[in-house]
Amino acid sequence: MAETAPRGRFITLEGGEGAGKSTQARRLASWLAERGIDCLQTREPGGSPGAEQIRALLVTGEPGRWDAATEALLMNAARRDHVVRTIRPALAAGRWVICDRFLDSTLVYQGYAGGVPAATLQALIAAAVDGTRPDLTLVLDLAPDRGLERAQGGKYGTETRFERKGEAFHAAVRDGFRRIAEQEPGRCAIVDAGQPEDAVAADIAAAVSERLGVPP
Ligand code: TMP
Repeated sequence: MAETAPRGRFITLEGGEGAGKSTQARRLASWLAERGIDCLQTREPGGSPGAEQIRALLVTGEPGRWDAATEALLMNAARRDHVVRTIRPALAAGRWVICDRFLDSTLVYQGYAGGVPAATLQALIAAAVDGTRPDLTLVLDLAPDRGLERAQGGKYGTETRFERKGEAFHAAVRDGFRRIAEQEPGRCAIVDAGQPEDAVAADIAAAVSERLGVPP
């Protein structure tokens, strides 16, 4: 009988603006590669050609350009395309997937901070992911004033629409991620992103070893 590759594992990184997710996603991918694990690194909104086009609508322009429910619909349209065209084929081929943001960002940005009812978001997310859910979610926790200061270093160019949503919004984002991590301790690990970069990477490696059985 032909052998099929075992399904890869699906890891998501979540957190507010400037928490260092992209840097840590890169470091995690190389750490896994050193252990012989082939990874696909991807991001949301985006991660497939169609979803990247939707991303451009979402992250540029005035903060009030879309209301939170419209954002949720667009995020999940992008997510559906990303899951179907990028994430699922990689997992099916036995690759591990590291995704910078996923469904928790919708629950937090459009839900806790944006006011869309959780039940509405859960229904949209279920339609988008159709059973493809993370094995492990790393929540990078950082005070929003520190994160926004880092994010405003200019690396996002014109992608500043969410950054400009105001202090109360970003405080709610931090609180929302912490609440999800507390409610789902089996799936989520919270990491102190205020530490030096190497210490954050070490905490992430330890969580991945412990939760997913990768040799340290
Ligand atoms: P990024 O700057 O981490 O690439 O993410 C772009 C912005 O999109 C970020 O401010 C968070 C926001 N976002 C949501 O509001 N909802 C979502 O579901 C996702 C994936 C991102």
